[in-house]
Amino acid sequence: MTALGKKMEEMLKIDFPVIMAPMFLVSNQAMLEAGMRAGIMATFPSLNYRKEGELDALLDQLNAYSDKNTQGSYGINLIVQQSNIYLKKHLASCINKKVPFYITSLGNPKEVVEAAHKYGAKVFCDVTNIEHAKKCYDNNCDGFIAVGQGAGGHAGPNPLQILVPALKENFPDKPVVAAGGITNGKGLLSVQVLGAEGVSIGTRFIASTECKVSDDYKNAIVKSEMDDIVMTTKLSGSPCTIINTPTAKKLGYDQNWVEKFMANNPKIKKWFKIFVQVRGMKKLEQSVLPNNYQQLWCAGKSVELINDIISCEEIIANIKTEYRKSLDEIGVSGNK
Ligand SMILES: Cc1cc2nc3c(=O)[nH]c(=O)nc-3n(C[C@H](O)[C@H](O)[C@H](O)COP(=O)(O)O)c2cc1C
Repeated sequence: MTALGKKMEEMLKIDFPVIMAPMFLVSNQAMLEAGMRAGIMATFPSLNYRKEGELDALLDQLNAYSDKNTQGSYGINLIVQQSNIYLKKHLASCINKKVPFYITSLGNPKEVVEAAHKYGAKVFCDVTNIEHAKKCYDNNCDGFIAVGQGAGGHAGPNPLQILVPALKENFPDKPVVAAGGITNGKGLLSVQVLGAEGVSIGTRFIASTECKVSDDYKNAIVKSEMDDIVMTTKLSGSPCTIINTPTAKKLGYDQNWVEKFMANNPKIKKWFKIFVQVRGMKKLEQSVLPNNYQQLWCAGKSVELINDIISCEEIIANIKTEYRKSLDEIGVSGNK
């Protein structure tokens, strides 16, 4: 337990205020188990398990592992947009298996919150501004994940230095977890000073030994600098961060006028969104796993600070050590 992250740790039943963020095509069981062993909250997107029976089988194994590793816990990310054709089925599996923690993204969390609260599970919502946060708050979410500029995946437009205090000011009773650009203990402490209880970390865990993406992708994370990260709306319709490889340049960064027209036309926008997302998923799938020649790699600006490929256990141990050292450096005593 830590003094500054206590509220989040108690609520989520973990020992250290870090979430291993959900990552499409990247999160896997070995990473989740390493996170649980290390006492953090390890999460994954339901969309990584789309084949019949896959998600149910994984949830059984995670529940069994979680029973043996009570210092950490696990959770699932559900995309709650209407365009997620798997949502109803995945939510039903999660309720059935009593998943302890949910992260919702890109929509209204109402259905998930209501279902989760019936058996005491907690729901945090990814938010990038106050308007979306208000919708989540009104639907009784338990906390927020403030997704700031430069985050891997669907990054927000606002800096954490503004988004985190703004969320605390508007919703003082809800814990805030900061996401975007954090790789180390100093990053964790810095957002706690802003009012966040903890952090959600994605990109750093791609360059881990447990991660099953191609070596080319991992090496690109290690070699890239912050200016190599660009945003594209071509993959999902929403701005998403990727490494600016030749494949990314060829894909382009903005939807063309026909795509924009279809995305905004009330009669077809839902179907067009589904089409864009399925097409984007396929493109990413062709890039991420070993033996693929495409280079469409999602990553945030924290690549600048990632210089090695090490185990998840080491990544988390380094964060803990640096966090405690930083507290000593600024002369904060007490429970660290
Ligand atoms: C490769 C990759 C895939 C991601 N996939 C998802 C996803 O499926 N659902 C989601 O809510 N967020 C997703 N994210 C965002 C992360 O959950 C998290 O918000 C983000 O990684 C935090 O920023 P950081 O990468 O700078 O640590 C993804 C991020 C990355 C890097």
